[in-house]
Amino acid sequence: MNSFIEKEEKFIKEIIKECGYDTEEVVLNVSSRPEFGDYQYNGVMALAKTYSKNPREIATEIVDKIKVMNRYKDINIAGPGFINITFSDEQLIKHINELNENININYHNENPKTIFLDYGGANVAKALHVGHLRSANIGEALKRLANALGNKTMADAHLGDWGRPIGLVMLEIKKRNPELPYFDENFNGEYPKESPVTNEDLMILYPYASNKAKEDESYMEEAREITAKFQDGDKGLMALWEHIMYVSKNDIKRIYDRLNTTFEIWEGESDGNNYIPELTDYLKEKQLVEESQGALVINVKEENDDHEVPPLLLIKSNGSASYETTDLACIWERMKKWKPDEIWYLTDARQSLHFEQVFRAAQKAKIVKEDTKLEFIPFGTMNGSDGKPFKTRDGGVMTLEALLDLAYEECEKKVLPNITGEERKEIAEKVAIAAVKYADLIPFRLTDYNFDPIKFSDLQGKTGPYLLYSTIRMKSLLNKAEEAGIKYSKMSQIKDDSDRNVIIGILNLRSVLNKAINTKSLNDITDYLYKETNLYNNFYSQNRILIEEDKELQESWLLLTKVIYDNNVKLLDILGIEIPNRM
Ligand code: ARG
Repeated sequence: MNSFIEKEEKFIKEIIKECGYDTEEVVLNVSSRPEFGDYQYNGVMALAKTYSKNPREIATEIVDKIKVMNRYKDINIAGPGFINITFSDEQLIKHINELNENININYHNENPKTIFLDYGGANVAKALHVGHLRSANIGEALKRLANALGNKTMADAHLGDWGRPIGLVMLEIKKRNPELPYFDENFNGEYPKESPVTNEDLMILYPYASNKAKEDESYMEEAREITAKFQDGDKGLMALWEHIMYVSKNDIKRIYDRLNTTFEIWEGESDGNNYIPELTDYLKEKQLVEESQGALVINVKEENDDHEVPPLLLIKSNGSASYETTDLACIWERMKKWKPDEIWYLTDARQSLHFEQVFRAAQKAKIVKEDTKLEFIPFGTMNGSDGKPFKTRDGGVMTLEALLDLAYEECEKKVLPNITGEERKEIAEKVAIAAVKYADLIPFRLTDYNFDPIKFSDLQGKTGPYLLYSTIRMKSLLNKAEEAGIKYSKMSQIKDDSDRNVIIGILNLRSVLNKAINTKSLNDITDYLYKETNLYNNFYSQNRILIEEDKELQESWLLLTKVIYDNNVKLLDILGIEIPNRM
């Protein structure tokens, strides 16, 4: 199964071969000069070089051969030897009918992989903040894209559930409620079923304890002690840990749910940590572990390094494991349990050295297979509307929830006045999430951008709400046709450029999907969706579909509408955007 353009590329490659030339691949590009054709082939220059011939001569041979076959409406040569192709109406109509049968023809994959994704990383007992937004959005969309392209995917929430933040919270609980049984070493009874803290408590306890530890060294020391104690498996503290985990995880889930961000696996750093003893033994056996100032390290420097790559700190001098070790242990676990071909990590760019060390150690120690791909997928920052790091009005850290609420407030104003009550809230929420997610995926992954809820929620322009509004309108047209008893099951006619351009636009989808999965950036998809939707809206405004008298033409237009609608639904779903029934 090949996409429309891929089939044409194959065909042209065959013809070029018949003309006596050999070429690795033929690539057709969207024409930069639509007045000459829909697509163009620019490979003749390279052929001319290889065969020391005049490009125009080669182009003429190819074009003459194709012309007599009547495959295209037009094929011509421009400039020194660019070949322009204008597809025939029959070809285009046939393609739309094929898409109607199977909207997935652009998603085929001859070489599916098992891909494990790591784009959660929320820290237990701390609020999700704006920094978690992009990993959640980009990671989720990449998972859905990889999945739509026939790969097997799974994502782990990889909660930060084992470090000092939890120790800090435990210490502060102890200070406030020393009488709780979790802190009594002689307690032998059953620990309470109810958590002593709510998530709201945690949101107060953590910032309080974290600030205090910064000012008060003895408090910090106590936090270190209690952290080491729970990591060592202290019974009472483990019981308290379970409570904190439960309460906090529920809240983290709730916010990821709001963002349509899903994880198949809800593990955390603590799960990887279970494997540290066997991992350490393995590494020692491989003689990769060295002692350095009382700590255990793995040397990961390479000969041709153009920057300093320090040794990976495996076990600190106080006996505890590092962040690097946790990630290495998680790779160990993942290879053992899920055997992925690739593992994709999404965090902001500041963690690049961390992952470089971890990946090198994993490869050096053969924890992964030679052809296992470990990929770090960093992204740029989302800033406040002033271009500076995002803060609340009083200068605090903006939580992810507060940020989504800002978008909600703007989008709520855009919902139709006659929609009220619960439905209004649900719709406003969907529109808000679409606004935030779409805006987040517009810039190239590594590019920074500014949060601007007013711009993001605009019903006009390149925004999530515009796409939702347009897609809902397509659906409502189809519904009205159905209500009027108008049947449509195939396309048979193209009227003019207004409908033809919509079809030409759709031909590009496969190459857009390829680019997105290769660059691991969704910007080409957001762009494509916007352009294709604009082409459709232009067609929609130029024709009166429901009162068209030529029944065959009307049927053709309705079918085209359905294909564009299905295509939009699928692409919005890949971006993690839900479409309300109305708005
Ligand atoms: N919890 C970490 C943080 O907040 C992010 C985890 C990213 N994933 C990973 N496998 N290290 O910085």
